[in-house]
Amino acid sequence: MTTTKHSRLASQLGLELPLVQGPFGGGLSTVELTATVSNNGALGSFGAHNLPGEGIALAIAATRAQTDRPFAINLWVNDHDPGGDDMTPATFERAWAFYEPYFKEFGLDRPEPPQHYHPRFDDQIDALLAARPAVFSFVFGIPSAAILQECRRLGILSIGAATTLAEVEALDAAGVDAIVASGFEAGGHRPSFLARAEDSLMGTATLVRLASTRTSKPIIAAGGMADAAGIRAARAAGADLAQLGTAFVACAESGTADVHRDALFSARAQTTVLTRAYTGRLARGIPSRVIEEFGRRAHELPPFPIHGWFVGKLKSAGLAANIEDFVSLYAGQAAPLLKHRSAAGLIASIRTEL
Ligand SMILES: Cc1cc2nc3c(=O)[nH]c(=O)nc-3n(C[C@H](O)[C@H](O)[C@H](O)COP(=O)(O)O)c2cc1C
Repeated sequence: MTTTKHSRLASQLGLELPLVQGPFGGGLSTVELTATVSNNGALGSFGAHNLPGEGIALAIAATRAQTDRPFAINLWVNDHDPGGDDMTPATFERAWAFYEPYFKEFGLDRPEPPQHYHPRFDDQIDALLAARPAVFSFVFGIPSAAILQECRRLGILSIGAATTLAEVEALDAAGVDAIVASGFEAGGHRPSFLARAEDSLMGTATLVRLASTRTSKPIIAAGGMADAAGIRAARAAGADLAQLGTAFVACAESGTADVHRDALFSARAQTTVLTRAYTGRLARGIPSRVIEEFGRRAHELPPFPIHGWFVGKLKSAGLAANIEDFVSLYAGQAAPLLKHRSAAGLIASIRTEL
């Protein structure tokens, strides 16, 4: 590798390949996947936004037991949309009236209102800083200057995600160590934080190319890559590293359900759509009943994370009965390129082809 800015991040992290395994929220990240990726010369990531502080500490300890290489812990900086932190009984009742028919269909009782619909970022970041992973990656905003300063003091590299040039510039000005340029091809949520996600849809190649003209920070391209050809194209456009998500979700080491993995490898994955139906925030996935029914009623959905909390209960009940109706079939547009079912196999093939 040369000594341009493009190799600094890889050598800082001791990576053998310009490859990052994207973090997955919602329980799809596993310690095994993160450690396997890091042990195979790329950067493993663990998406921890759904875990409380104690869970994050345990995940970091468990990952360290399986690898002595660097890995990233990923959080969602903004843990609710407007109204999404309203814990009043009236809000719960209104939401329950919307979901009750679906709960009845699955034979589910009315759930007890939770203490929070989503763990608090403030609690999560305390646990993360205490455990000091090599990398803290984040989406949906920029942590405070005090948190970023603490990361620098503790030697934790910070990586923020952008979906527009304005977000690239905001992250650059905040002094993060690297920037993920996330194009709309990507599977999972659109992590926009300055404008509505629907108004922040840029393709990976354009975003990476433009970002490379505006920042001297290393750029990690994300969205639409599943093999070495995609990674080469992203690097030609100005990316330092490439972050693959869907290709790793498809691997046996991820925590995803069999119905999801089967869908990723099926002809259905040729069509993916952006929808608020899964959680209330915009995300890309394969059309299914949850998208048809809740996507059509998007204007009626309670805000993130309330909607996601209720859908999560329908998803679990469905999975127990092997029904995919309310399972989020997250997938990026490159899903038809998927070939590998093991993370080591995927990385080995990229290593050979690169
Ligand atoms: C199921 C799923 C969950 C994801 N969850 C997160 C997350 O919690 N945090 C994050 O930074 N990125 C998340 N992502 C984005 C990935 O880390 C990665 O940037 C993206 O998948 C790359 O695009 P690709 O799917 O086309 O490979 C998720 C992606 C998927 C498919």
